[in-house]
Amino acid sequence: MKYNPKFCDAVAADPGLNAVHPGAPASLCQGWLEIMVTLEEKLCAITGMSAATLQPAAGAAGELTGLLLMRAFHEANGEDRRRVLIPDSAHGTNPASVTLGGYEVTTVPSNDRGLVDLEALKSALGPDVAGIMLTNPNTVGLFEEEITEIAQAVHDVGGLLYYDGANLNAILGAVRPGDMGFDIVHMNLHKTFATPHGGGGPGAGPVAVASHLVEFLPGPQAHRVEDGTFDWVAPPRSIGRVHGWQGNALVLARALAYIDVHGSDGLTRVARHAVLNANWLRHRLRDILPAAYDRVCMHECTLTATKLKQAYGVRGLDVAKALLEEGFHSPTVYFPLIVEEALMFEPTETESVQTLEALAQAVERIAQRAADDPVSLHRAPQSTPVSRVDEARAARQLIATADAAR
Ligand SMILES: Cc1ncc(COP(=O)(O)O)c(C=O)c1O
Repeated sequence: MKYNPKFCDAVAADPGLNAVHPGAPASLCQGWLEIMVTLEEKLCAITGMSAATLQPAAGAAGELTGLLLMRAFHEANGEDRRRVLIPDSAHGTNPASVTLGGYEVTTVPSNDRGLVDLEALKSALGPDVAGIMLTNPNTVGLFEEEITEIAQAVHDVGGLLYYDGANLNAILGAVRPGDMGFDIVHMNLHKTFATPHGGGGPGAGPVAVASHLVEFLPGPQAHRVEDGTFDWVAPPRSIGRVHGWQGNALVLARALAYIDVHGSDGLTRVARHAVLNANWLRHRLRDILPAAYDRVCMHECTLTATKLKQAYGVRGLDVAKALLEEGFHSPTVYFPLIVEEALMFEPTETESVQTLEALAQAVERIAQRAADDPVSLHRAPQSTPVSRVDEARAARQLIATADAAR
C-alpha cells in the first residue's frame, strides 16, 4: 500500500466539496462538474482513451460496467457473442464479473514464462468471443510482451480488449493501454491515485473507452459546454446508471489532486520508482524467497516460499503472519493461483531503500526461525492484538447478523 499525500485528504476535506449534495442542480455545482470533466480528460490522457465514466464505485464495479459496454457494443452490431477469455493468472473478480455480465468464461493458460500462451489464446478464439480481459503488467508482475499480437488476434475475430487497470503504478507515463490495443480500461483510483486500497474504505473504478464505445457510456456524464460552463448529458445509447450518483466523489477529487500535484513528470517518476523498488526487493530476497519467474518485473514481484516449505515445512502464510510480528504489512498470499506458495510484494514508489532493507532483514530473521523453531511460525503472529485466526472459519460458519456476532 503506498503512502498517500495528506494534501489529497485536505482537498477532500474541503467543505466546498464535501458539503455539496450530490443531487444539487448543475448550476449550483459548476466546480464539481469541472473537477469531473478535468479528471475524465486526464485519465483518458493517461490511458490513451477517448472518454470515461467516473460512476463505478470500485474495481469490480468498473469491470461489470466494462462488460456491459462490451455487450451493448456487440448487440448494437446485431451480434450475440457468448464467451470472454481470461488468463489463468487473472484476479478473481474478472471471472466473477464476466459471469455477472451474462457471459461465459474461457480460461487461457499461461506459458512457462508466466505470460499468456499466445497459441492457446488463438485456439480459444472464435466468432462467439465477445472479448478478453487482461491485466498488463499481469498479476505475476510481468509485462505481456506479445500484447500487440494478442490485440490483433482478438480484434481479428471481432472481439474487444478489456484492460484490468486495477493498478496503474507500473505504466504511468510509460505506456498507455490505448496504444497497446485495448478498447476498455478500468482504473482503481484507490490504488494508484491517493486513496488507500484495502481496509474497506470507499473506492472508485472509472472506466475509460475508445471512441467506438463512447456512445454507450453510463449517464448522465459531466460535460463541458461551449460557453465554458458545465452540464450533465446522457450519451445517446447509454447503458444507464451504474451508481446512484456520480460515484464516490471525494475519491475522485483526491485523484485529481494527486495527478495535478505530481504533474506528468512526477507520475512518470512514480512508475519508475515503483518498478525499481519491486526489482530491488526481488533481487534482495532471491536466496530465501526466489521469484516465481526470475526476470525483470514491473511494480510487484511474485515470490515463492517453496524452499522454506520443502526444508522446514514453513509455508508462505507462516512467513506473511510472521512479518506482522516484525511490524510489516504482509504481502498478498496465495495469489496469483498459478504460483505455488505465492507471496506477492508490491513495495510501491513511496518506500525508501532503508525500509526495503529492513523488510529484507525481517525475512532473513524469519528464515532463521524456520530453521530453528518452525513450529513457532505456524502459530505466528503472537505479538499482535489478534493472533493466528482460522482462515476458513468465516466462510464455513457465516455469521451474517450483528446479534449473532455478539
Ligand atoms: C488485478 C485486480 N483486478 C481487480 C481488482 C478489484 O478491485 P476492487 O477491489 O476495487 O473491486 C483488484 C483488487 O485488488 C485487482 O488487484
